[in-house]
Amino acid sequence: MARKIFVTAALPYANGPFHIGHIMEYIQSDIWVRFQRMQGHALHFVCADDAHGAPIMLKAEAEGISPQALIERIAAGRPQYLKGFLLSFDHWYSTDSPENTQLSQDVYARLQRAGLIYKKDVEQFYDPLKGMFLPDRYIKGECPNCHSKDQYGDACEVCSTVYAPTDLINPYSTLTGARPVLKSSAHFFFRLSDPQCVAFLRTWLDAPGRLQPQVVNKAKEWLAGSGEQALGDWDISRDAPYFGIPIPDAPGKFFYVWLDAPIGYLAALKNYFTRGKARSNGEARSFEEFLAAPDTEQIHFIGKDIIYFHTLFWPAMLRFAGSPYRVPDHVYAHGFITVSGEKMSKSRGTGISPLRYLEIGMNAEWLRYYIAARLNASVEDLDFNPDDFIARVNSDLIGKYVNIASRAANFITRSFNGELKFGADAVALVDAARTTAALVHASYDAREFGKALRDCMAVADHINHEFDARQPWVLARDPANAGELQQVCSRALFGFKLLSVLLAPVLPAVAERVARQLFGLGRAFRWSDAQELPAHINPYEHLMTRVDPKQLDALFSADTAAPATAAAAADAAVGAAAASIAGGATASAASISIEEFRKIDLRVARIVQAEAVAGADKLLKLTLDLGGQTRTVFAGIKSAYEPAALQGRLTVVVANLAARKMKFGVSEGMVLAASGDTPGVYLLSPDSGATPGMKVS
Ligand code: MSP
Ligand code: ZN
Repeated sequence: MARKIFVTAALPYANGPFHIGHIMEYIQSDIWVRFQRMQGHALHFVCADDAHGAPIMLKAEAEGISPQALIERIAAGRPQYLKGFLLSFDHWYSTDSPENTQLSQDVYARLQRAGLIYKKDVEQFYDPLKGMFLPDRYIKGECPNCHSKDQYGDACEVCSTVYAPTDLINPYSTLTGARPVLKSSAHFFFRLSDPQCVAFLRTWLDAPGRLQPQVVNKAKEWLAGSGEQALGDWDISRDAPYFGIPIPDAPGKFFYVWLDAPIGYLAALKNYFTRGKARSNGEARSFEEFLAAPDTEQIHFIGKDIIYFHTLFWPAMLRFAGSPYRVPDHVYAHGFITVSGEKMSKSRGTGISPLRYLEIGMNAEWLRYYIAARLNASVEDLDFNPDDFIARVNSDLIGKYVNIASRAANFITRSFNGELKFGADAVALVDAARTTAALVHASYDAREFGKALRDCMAVADHINHEFDARQPWVLARDPANAGELQQVCSRALFGFKLLSVLLAPVLPAVAERVARQLFGLGRAFRWSDAQELPAHINPYEHLMTRVDPKQLDALFSADTAAPATAAAAADAAVGAAAASIAGGATASAASISIEEFRKIDLRVARIVQAEAVAGADKLLKLTLDLGGQTRTVFAGIKSAYEPAALQGRLTVVVANLAARKMKFGVSEGMVLAASGDTPGVYLLSPDSGATPGMKVS
C-alpha cells in the first residue's frame, strides 16, 4: 500500500547562508525521503526560510535594508546549495508569506476559541533609546556571581551561572549601550499547563514508535517538572517593533517567531498544493483534504536543540486547533555535527563551509556517503574527521563499490558484446539479492543509515572476493573458459546493480547514471529493481573519482579563499591591513606597527549614489561624499546589496589608496567590508552620529 507522507526538515533562520549543520540535516532527511520514494510512496518533502524575529529585523536595520530585502537575498542564495548537495525538496518557501499569515492567525483563533489563550502583563527590560523591548541576548552586564564584565542576559560564559537579565549588575543594551529600564506590557500566553494539554501530551509522547526513546525521556522530564521547573505557559507575543505576523485585534502585538515558524511547515505545503506541484507529483487532493485525511503521515526531521518546541508546543497547538490540522506522526531528532571534535560556533561558523566544499569541486556524493555512514537513529553527535572521510570514500565507496563495475564490465563489453549470462545459480542469486534488499530496507526505514551502508559494504566485499577467487583475468586467456568468464562477470555485475539500487538514496546521481547508462534502463532505479537480473550492459563509463587529500587541505584553509570583498581585491600593502580591520579571514596576518597603521587614511563616507556597472557582475559603482569631497569607488559588493538600498548610507573608506585604473573607470579608494568563509559580504558602517569626512582611527 502506498503511504502518503508529508516530510519536513527544520526551517533555517533566514539571517545567513547554510552551514554544515543545516546540510547534514538535509542530507539525512533527503536520504530517508529518496528511500521512501523508491518504494513508490507518495511523498511531499518541503522546507522554508524561517524569516521572522528580532535578530533578522536588527540585522537588516544594521545593513540599512528592509527585512524583506535581507530575506530575499538569503533566499536567492539557497538553490546553489540545494542543487549542489542533491537535496530533493519538492518545495522551498518562506514563513514571511500570505499562507503563513493566514494559517498562523487561524491556529491562534482556534486556540482562543478553545479557551487556551490569555493575556497577562509582563515586566521586561526595555531600551529607552531604541524604543524596544530587549530579547535576553541583546542585554549584557556584569555577572552577579563572579563579576565578570560583559556577560549575556541569560548566563555567564565565565562561571556558567544561569540568571535573569534583571540580575545583571550595570546592565546595558548591546544595541545602543543605554541602560535598560523595566517596563510592563501585555503579552498573550498559550495555556500549555492546562490539564487537557498535559494529558494530551502524555498520550502523544507515549505512542509506541512515535519518537526516539531519548526524545521521549527528555520531553517527559519537561512535562513532569515541578516547582520552578514546572511546565509553564508559553509567551507567544512580542511587542512592536518586531518583524513578524500581527496578532488580530491586538495593535502593536506580533506572534513570537516560534509560533509561526512550525506553522511555516504547513504554509510551505499549502503553497506547494496551490501551485499544483503536488498534483503533478501524484496527489489528487487539496491541501486541506490531504492534511485531514486519516492515512496522511506528518513527519518532521529536526536537530536536538529544538526538541522542546517540536514535542510540546507544536503537537499541543495542532491538537487543540483541530481538524484539518493533525498532530505529527513522528519527530525524528539528530545530534550535532562537529568538525574534528570541535563544536561549531554560531558566530564563528565552522571548519567546513558547504559552499567552499562545492566551489573547490569536491563531490557532493562523497559527503552524502560519509554523513550517511556516520549516522544512526539516535540523537548522538557526529564528527567529521578528515582522515576518516578520505578512508571511507576511497576505500569503501571507490575501492569496494565502484571498482566492481569497472573491473567486470570490460570483459563483458570486449568479449561478449555486452550480453550477461546466468547459470543454474540464477534463482539463488535473486533470492540472496531479495534477502539483502530486505535487510537494508529495514535499516533505511529505521534511519540506521550507518548499518545500511555497512551491510552494503559487506556485500561488496563478498562480490570482490568471489570475483578475485575466480581470477577472471586468467580465465580470459583461454577461449575454452569463455562461458565461465561470462558468468563470473555477470554475477559481479548483478551484484553491482543490487548495490547501486541499495545505495541510490545516498548516491542519487551515481545510481541514476548506472541505471540509465550502464544498464540502459531509461529511468532511475526503483527499489524493486534490486532483484531483477539484467540481460545486457552498455560499455562502462567513469563513475566517480577518488578524493585527493589536498582537497581537504583546501577545504580547511581560509587564506586560499577567493577574494570576495573590495578589501581582499585591493592593492596588497594596504589590503592586508584593511582586511584585518574588516575582521576577515586574515585575523592572524603579520603584526604591523601603529605607524604603519596610521599610514592608512580611513574616513567616514556617505554613499551618495550606487549603481550597477554594465558588463561587471560583481561590481557596484559608488559615488562617495567624504565631507565635501566626492570620490568614485568600484566595490565588489554587488552580490550582497541592491544599489538603491545603499544610497544615503554611511560607510568607511580607505581615502589614500592609490587610484587604480579599472576596466570600467578609475577607482579612487576602497570601501571596507567584512567577509568570512561562508558567502556574504558585509559593508562596514559607523554608529549613528558620525558624519562624512570624519577620520577613523
Ligand atoms: N529556525 C529554527 C527552526 C524552526 S523549525 C520550525 C532554527 N533554525 S536554525 O537555522 O538555527 O537551525 C536549523 C536546523 O539546523 C535545526 O534543526 C538545528 O538543530 C540544525 N543544526 C544547527 N546546527 C547544527 C549542527 N551543528 N549539526 C546538525 N544540525 C544542526 O533552529
Ligand atoms: Zn560569572
